[in-house]
Amino acid sequence: MRLTLVLFLFFLLHNNASAKVILDKKIFYTELNGNIDLKFGYAFNQSTFGDKPKEKMSSCPNLSLRYLQRVHPSTQMGFFVKVDSPDVINSRTLDIKELDIGQGYFIIKNKGLGSIEYGRKGLVSQDMLINTSKICAAAGGVSGDWANYANLRGEHKKSDGAGYDKDIVFWVKPNIYSDYNGLKCKSGTSVISYISPEIYNFQFGLSYVPRENNLHYSNLIGAGLSYKGSLSEDISFIAAATGEFAKQNYTDEKECLSNPNCNNQLKHWNLGINVKCFNLNYVFSYGNGGNSGRRVNIVQGKEKKGEVKNTHYINAGIAYHSDFSKLSFTYFASGREIADSGTNELSSYAVSLEYPLFMGTSYYFDAIKFYTKEPKVHNNNSGYVFLAGLKLNF
Ligand SMILES: *[C@@H]1O[C@H](CO)[C@@H](O)[C@H](O)[C@H]1NC(C)=O
Ligand SMILES: *[C@@H]1O[C@H](CO)[C@@H](O)[C@H](O)[C@H]1NC(C)=O
Ligand SMILES: *[C@@H]1O[C@H](CO)[C@@H](O)[C@H](O)[C@H]1NC(C)=O
Ligand SMILES: *[C@@H]1O[C@H](CO)[C@@H](O)[C@H](O)[C@H]1NC(C)=O
Ligand SMILES: *[C@@H]1O[C@H](CO)[C@@H](O)[C@H](O)[C@H]1NC(C)=O
Repeated sequence: MRLTLVLFLFFLLHNNASAKVILDKKIFYTELNGNIDLKFGYAFNQSTFGDKPKEKMSSCPNLSLRYLQRVHPSTQMGFFVKVDSPDVINSRTLDIKELDIGQGYFIIKNKGLGSIEYGRKGLVSQDMLINTSKICAAAGGVSGDWANYANLRGEHKKSDGAGYDKDIVFWVKPNIYSDYNGLKCKSGTSVISYISPEIYNFQFGLSYVPRENNLHYSNLIGAGLSYKGSLSEDISFIAAATGEFAKQNYTDEKECLSNPNCNNQLKHWNLGINVKCFNLNYVFSYGNGGNSGRRVNIVQGKEKKGEVKNTHYINAGIAYHSDFSKLSFTYFASGREIADSGTNELSSYAVSLEYPLFMGTSYYFDAIKFYTKEPKVHNNNSGYVFLAGLKLNF
């Protein structure tokens, strides 16, 4: 029934050939974008098809609108809104109340001075961050949501089901900034960002989260600096250094030991480079989160037990894009050093293929191999996840 609905939506939208509305008059600029990603996934472990995957199919529809109006020859003002709809396939009811404003912010843009954005939005450091998600095909390779299909922890934690977030000290998800130690972006957080124009190939961005206790920190700052260069028409590169910083939310170290919810200083940074050479893109990126995030598992008397000491990851990939196909190979490896329990490791490799079908649709295949190591419980696990899907863009 729900699938019928999705297919119906699909054909409805595709009868309208000019569905992506772009109004680009002298004064007004409007862009409307819609996406659905119908995904089917299956995971299996070392020996055979393992646990029943939690979700076999998913869809993540979203709709976004960008509006800009020229208020001065070199200045534009406007807004951007993105609505995320609940998963049409897995949700039982289709209720308008389940729609979520994923992003909504105001924009002021000046050609010479740069732009200011204010509202519900990610940090500019995360937008500028270079990693393989900038080049990846299909379901996003190692950055995608493949872990929702696999039991990463292995036999002893079988009942925990799929996903990264099964133990607050264990997995390092790509983009640890928003997901290490239970640190998650509160939706509704207002961020103010400044993005400079390009000056001698450099671009600078700064975000500030003004209110207290957002992302469990107050006065959080995100910043990024990028540099674009080119050797010839076909060979160019962009490099970026990005980071997020905030002070710890405790003043008394001793008092904090009895309160397991204290946050260490947030200090996460990433360096990335993307080299484009004809139809090929190469990306290399390194990130480090130090001991940022919540001080977990602190047992009185044993101050250091379970404390995260360091978190780091590397991410690399190569992608080929042409009019007929997109291919990418991506790699991610991370480690989280925990006092007295060694380093928990996660690595993954993905081969992703995507082919256009017609008018903004494409179909894809993603194959991911993962490997995990958890020295504390002397456990290693590995397995495969296969994803196949259909992307609709209107
Ligand atoms: C909307 O969803 C598609 C795929 O489901 C994704 O690629 C795209 O980035 C999303 N758009 C925004 C603005 O988040
Ligand atoms: C792997 O497959 C075997 C055989 O079906 C099963 O007994 C085991 O529980 C699976 N292990 C994991 C980690 O899923
Ligand atoms: C790359 O960065 C984006 C945010 O810019 C994040 O969503 C994604 O998970 C990251 N991927 C990896 C492999 O680090
Ligand atoms: C620090 O932040 C965490 C997460 O929001 C909170 O649970 C904890 O109580 C805070 N600690 C202090 C000392 O304010
Ligand atoms: C896990 O891997 C490590 C090295 O990678 C190895 O020394 C250890 O024996 C493995 N443990 C198991 C249970 O396979």
